[in-house]
Amino acid sequence: MTSQLYAISEYPNVPEVYARLNALIRQPIRPVRRESMQAYLDYFDRRCPRSKDLTNEAQQYIPGGVQHNLAFNYPFPIAIDRADGAYLWDVDGNRYIDFLQAGGPTLLGSNYGPVREKVFELLRSCGPVTGLFHEYELKLAQLINRYMPAVEMFRMLGSGTESVMAAVRAARAFTRKRNVIKVGGAYHGWSDQMVYGLHVPGTGRMEAKGIPGSATQNTREFYPNDLGALKRLLIFNRLRGGTAAVIVEPVGPESGTRPVPFDFNQKVRELCDEFGALLIFDEVVTGFRLGLGGAQGYFGVKPDLTTFGKCVSGGYPMAGGVGGRRDVILRFAAGIGGTGERAYIGGTLSANPLSCVAGYYALLEIERTNAAVIAGQAGDRLTRGLTALVEKYGLPYAAYNQGSIVHLETSGTMLLDLKNPLRLMRELNPRKHMMEEMGAAYMASGIITLAGSRMYTSLADTDAVIDEALAGFESVFRNIVPA
Ligand SMILES: Cc1ncc(COP(=O)(O)O)c(C=O)c1O
Repeated sequence: MTSQLYAISEYPNVPEVYARLNALIRQPIRPVRRESMQAYLDYFDRRCPRSKDLTNEAQQYIPGGVQHNLAFNYPFPIAIDRADGAYLWDVDGNRYIDFLQAGGPTLLGSNYGPVREKVFELLRSCGPVTGLFHEYELKLAQLINRYMPAVEMFRMLGSGTESVMAAVRAARAFTRKRNVIKVGGAYHGWSDQMVYGLHVPGTGRMEAKGIPGSATQNTREFYPNDLGALKRLLIFNRLRGGTAAVIVEPVGPESGTRPVPFDFNQKVRELCDEFGALLIFDEVVTGFRLGLGGAQGYFGVKPDLTTFGKCVSGGYPMAGGVGGRRDVILRFAAGIGGTGERAYIGGTLSANPLSCVAGYYALLEIERTNAAVIAGQAGDRLTRGLTALVEKYGLPYAAYNQGSIVHLETSGTMLLDLKNPLRLMRELNPRKHMMEEMGAAYMASGIITLAGSRMYTSLADTDAVIDEALAGFESVFRNIVPA
């Protein structure tokens, strides 16, 4: 064990990251050369025929042919057959380095043996669900409390989306205030009230098709890192039912794609205290990936409520939960110890024995192996290598990381916002398409990323894996259109 407890070895130089990102979106895009892109697309036709057939057929039965928003679907989705550690294999037998890691949860690497064995044992003795209490529910809640003392009580749910819904409901029930404030661009799941200012800051209800206006009328957003705007919203809300909660991803929206200055969370904490709002940390990604103490431990800021997802069951299904101050979480109590002012939540499969046993042993294994720190070192190596390649090929791209969360911005799509609506209208689609192309080029070179711009590293990413990935990235960077 090293003495470092957190994945981030050095906090990113935030002004420098923004200078690079701003320079990137001021320039015309630098995608892959057309003839090389054609060769990458040919790869999919040549090497992935079974994936193509399966996912073509899936379009008859599954909307868009894929069930996962994160699934790569350009030029068509790839069907995965086998997962082990740092690698995935598709149904045509092609091997890929897996930097999607299911969107973040599998910090130990895919299909991690010791946790799988515990899940098998549990399945043999009790099956996946009984609807009644199982000791692993207690063990998991106790363990989370040991790592994150601010999580005095924990209510397990089925997903990050549900956890955020529950947290906001508890905050409203507890404070008796109405509004919730989020950061523009941040994703907190797809509940009615949170599909607001999604992905692109300032866009409010742009993605809220099928959601009544009344569902989002008490949700407000502020531009990333703009503490002045947050304060103005808190003042504005005072005469409009008050602010029940401010919810943030503590490394910045979209897993830190727009990183926050180191003291940002502390300042949000102070504003919440000034206005009597609860602070919710959405640790769906950072919970355990940044270290067992989460982002709250790393930044040394105590939220009132914390939401969990993915990682809390080590990537096994039904992953989510909300924890925090006893007096707030008790609002969820039915029966024993109820407060009489219940914030209603439920979930037939919530806290099933399978999820709890997986989460319990995944967390113990993360502790035993120091996985967060080791994955963070892999993230550092990947970022250093990518930065060197970007310089070597004279590209305007930006690589930066928060430990095992690695960003490689090549198109700058995620940096567009409504402050410059003309640029947004003109450039969103071409930049998005470039992101898709980059993702396809990486994949044809043996690397799976999240949307062509983000990578999660894991315990399984040895130096050899990272170096192999860097060779793949270099082969793509050689084929970029010249300035
Ligand atoms: C920060 C954050 N919050 C909430 C969610 C929603 O979690 P789930 O997909 O489990 O509903 C996600 C999912 O990616 C997320 O990244």
